[in-house]
Amino acid sequence: MNLWLAPLDGITNYLFRNSLCRHFGGIDCFVTPFMPVQERAKLNVSNWRDIWPKNNTLKPATPQLMGNVPAHFVDTMHLLHETYGYTSFNWNVGCPVAQVVRRHRGCGLMPDTDRVEEVVAAVTSQTPFRFSIKMRLGLHSPDEGLRILERLESYPLDYIVIHPRLGVQMYEGVPDWDMLDEFCRHTHHRLVYSGDLNLVPDFVRLRQRYPMIQDWMLGRGILRNPFLAEEIRGMDVGDRRSRFLKYYQHFAAELLPLRHERGTLHNFKELWHYWRCLTGISDEQLRQLLRVDDWEHFYERSLQMIQDGCPNP
Ligand SMILES: Cc1cc2nc3c(=O)[nH]c(=O)nc-3n(C[C@H](O)[C@H](O)[C@H](O)COP(=O)(O)O)c2cc1C
Repeated sequence: MNLWLAPLDGITNYLFRNSLCRHFGGIDCFVTPFMPVQERAKLNVSNWRDIWPKNNTLKPATPQLMGNVPAHFVDTMHLLHETYGYTSFNWNVGCPVAQVVRRHRGCGLMPDTDRVEEVVAAVTSQTPFRFSIKMRLGLHSPDEGLRILERLESYPLDYIVIHPRLGVQMYEGVPDWDMLDEFCRHTHHRLVYSGDLNLVPDFVRLRQRYPMIQDWMLGRGILRNPFLAEEIRGMDVGDRRSRFLKYYQHFAAELLPLRHERGTLHNFKELWHYWRCLTGISDEQLRQLLRVDDWEHFYERSLQMIQDGCPNP
């Protein structure tokens, strides 16, 4: 059984991934947030810090790509291999954000089975690299995903990550477990599961229901509770409060030199929507914290909240 960290654009960059792995166990590998593919002449990958090898020494990281032109994938993958040595790539066919869908990328491609197949056919015939896709059930209907699975059955894909919601659902409502059964029956490819793994019992239930799945991606659940992978593996998590505090302080120290006070404050405010679960603060306390506009003040106040609130069973 493998536990993966899900790609979360704007959150799980290399600084987040490295801090998480230094302080918490249980995660085996990452898929990075997406990067756009392009034709070779227009690519400048030297500033793609998120996948610089020196920033990714702790666990294997697979770069995720987004686009819809077969030749752009082939060019980008060759260049990333030559520049950084990567041999495995993931394609984002699941992003439901309106601007992405409108530009016929991410989940916007799911109704276009031909285009999905063209990209996979080009990559698997014109490169020696491992290629995988991350998709939803469909944009409007699960028929789209089922058609894609049928078309991709004969291609040598590395794996397919499935988040069992439709694009139009965004992140709302519950995943469609019955449809996931159907998807499992429709493919021989290795499946990686992603979606709503928030608590250990969620994981246990899904593992029993889908014994053929060996790979599980943790996303928002591990943001809310960074001990989640350890808990799933039955590890002794020890003193939660002091471990979370150390992580928090280390992560802030790593972010500050690169993101400066403004950027760090912005990132931390976003993360506090998730961390609030761990510290058990009320809606009002969160609102007050998010109103603070100065980093020093925010940091001090948030440290105090962890000290006061982080549970330590
Ligand atoms: C803020 C945010 C950013 C995301 N960014 C990406 C991304 O860059 N690539 C991707 O394939 N999925 C992305 N996702 C989807 C997640 O990887 C994951 O499939 C989804 O959140 C469901 O899993 P969870 O309930 O465990 O979070 C994103 C989700 C969120 C909430």
